[in-house]
Amino acid sequence: MGQYSIHHQLVAIVPLFILLLPNIHGWGDDGHVIVCKIAQARLSEAAAEAVKKLLPISAGNDLSTKCSWADHVHHIYPWASALHYANTPEALCSYKNSRDCVDYKKGIKGRCVVAAINNYTTQLLEYGSDTKSRYNLTQSLFFPSHFMGDIHQPLHCGFLSDNGGNAITVRWYKRKQNLHHIWDSTILLTEVDKFYDSDMDEFIDALQQNITKVWADQVEEWENCGDKDLPCPATYASESTIDACKWAYKDATEGSVLNDDYFLSRLPIVNMRLAQAGVRLAAILNRVFEKKLAMSI
Ligand SMILES: *[C@@H]1O[C@H](CO)[C@@H](O)[C@H](O)[C@H]1NC(C)=O
Ligand SMILES: *[C@@H]1O[C@H](CO)[C@@H](O)[C@H](O)[C@H]1NC(C)=O
Ligand SMILES: *[C@@H]1O[C@H](CO)[C@@H](O)[C@H](O)[C@H]1NC(C)=O
Repeated sequence: MGQYSIHHQLVAIVPLFILLLPNIHGWGDDGHVIVCKIAQARLSEAAAEAVKKLLPISAGNDLSTKCSWADHVHHIYPWASALHYANTPEALCSYKNSRDCVDYKKGIKGRCVVAAINNYTTQLLEYGSDTKSRYNLTQSLFFPSHFMGDIHQPLHCGFLSDNGGNAITVRWYKRKQNLHHIWDSTILLTEVDKFYDSDMDEFIDALQQNITKVWADQVEEWENCGDKDLPCPATYASESTIDACKWAYKDATEGSVLNDDYFLSRLPIVNMRLAQAGVRLAAILNRVFEKKLAMSI
């Protein structure tokens, strides 16, 4: 009986607690680790050296240990919470930066994941200059390393009205989950469990192999921004919004049951977005630290 009542209380408390958590966590920690591992392995000598110097000793020169840092500092830097996403108005499947890059809670324009990537990339250009930067460049590295993951998660550029899928409850097979969380973690973790024997390193190897084999023709395009300067976060956001409509929201309305059909058809999208995020993060850091980036912001 005692146990029953404790259990009963937990059941009552846990959902409330979850509701109170900020809804801004991009990819679970695993997704961010994957993005940063892929990126760090692709750094040029100059960029690898700079990253090593900016990382605290405790990170053991492993950028991926700090790629969820931005999710753990909401209480210290509440102003940064709006920098993890960018939402379009209801049912609009195209991202428009001048309209959609807004901190909606405070009504401030120009505050969203797109602006944040430009912001911190620009700050990083001060690395190695003679005058000491007024920014903490370690944080200027941690923030975009995280935001490059977020911006590639389609539902971080989903609709404002459902909070990027957070307000849509579906069933993942038998379990109730919100759609945003399914895209942050569940598809990825289900894939790693089912096809990679729960071995995350094996999954990352497979993804890296696909970058050099399956997607080899596209990688150069990912690393560049057409005729625009790097980085081009508004382009990454546009791609995410399109994927959100085409894949995330499609057949996933309130109460839908998502099973093999949804899982197997969406898994390639998750894989590709993780790969693109890692490849592009490396491309940006390489150019920043080789001082080849012409930023016009
Ligand atoms: C840019 O970075 C500074 C320093 O961290 C921060 O105060 C500001 O809010 C950031 N703005 C955006 C849009 O990221
Ligand atoms: C810069 O930021 C990092 C990460 O938050 C922190 O550990 C470090 O103490 C900061 N450096 C300075 C000089 O404030
Ligand atoms: C790698 O590519 C193969 C062939 O297209 C695909 O079946 C597999 O799911 C991909 N794995 C990852 C992790 O991208």
